[in-house]
Amino acid sequence: MTVYAIIGGTGLAQLEGLTIRQSLAMSTPYGEPSGEVQVGEFGGREVMFLARHGHPHRLPPHKVNYRANLWALKQAGAQAILAVNAVGGINADMGTGHFCVPHDLVDYTSGREHTYFADDLERVTHIDFTQPYSQALRERLVDALKAEGSPFSDYGVYGCTQGPRLETAAEILRLERDGCDIVGMTGMPEAALARELELNYACLALVVNPAAGKSSSVITMAEIDQALQKGIGTVKSVLARVLNAA
Ligand code: HPA
Repeated sequence: MTVYAIIGGTGLAQLEGLTIRQSLAMSTPYGEPSGEVQVGEFGGREVMFLARHGHPHRLPPHKVNYRANLWALKQAGAQAILAVNAVGGINADMGTGHFCVPHDLVDYTSGREHTYFADDLERVTHIDFTQPYSQALRERLVDALKAEGSPFSDYGVYGCTQGPRLETAAEILRLERDGCDIVGMTGMPEAALARELELNYACLALVVNPAAGKSSSVITMAEIDQALQKGIGTVKSVLARVLNAA
């Protein structure tokens, strides 16, 4: 049976309903992961959980040790990763509260530790990343979203920015011209590192605000928090459905 791990993003520092059997404090050659890897039962089966930003939330997107996080999950035995990400909506069809299971991404980040093949010149590997997300996992997420009955898109290009500031309106227009439907700060290098470790990986994105310039009001943390609070119940149900059906 495939061993699943969930990486919880903003608003999901804790997976309520997870019956924790073990909390693994792991260290890796790349440093410390964001927190302990919790192993327990959720959605009727065994799963691992890691809070991307730590619990309580303390690491901004550019400070997350993505290499340690993915390495720790792999060491703990994970084979498939369900990543939860809060995003801004660029595509007019993807407003606040909408879910998106992206099929592709564009990486705008810089200066992050983004590969396991940085130092060892003999081991340099160029992973194929034509399709950054696992199609099989995406289908499972889509089936769960359908069953849940919440509005979602079964496609989307995730633009990953460096943060922690939000984007300018011109930057969002550029992302839109590049084909991006949603924008977030944590999708990369996470997805690429998962591929380097041969972990299947898919993203469940929840739109928590219209991206910069896509509405007439300024983007506030209060607005984002409210959208997260509203959507997180559905995130958990969708994850439970995926695990239950797997
Ligand atoms: N931009 C980047 N990251 C985000 C946003 C946004 O508008 N909303 C939530 N994460």
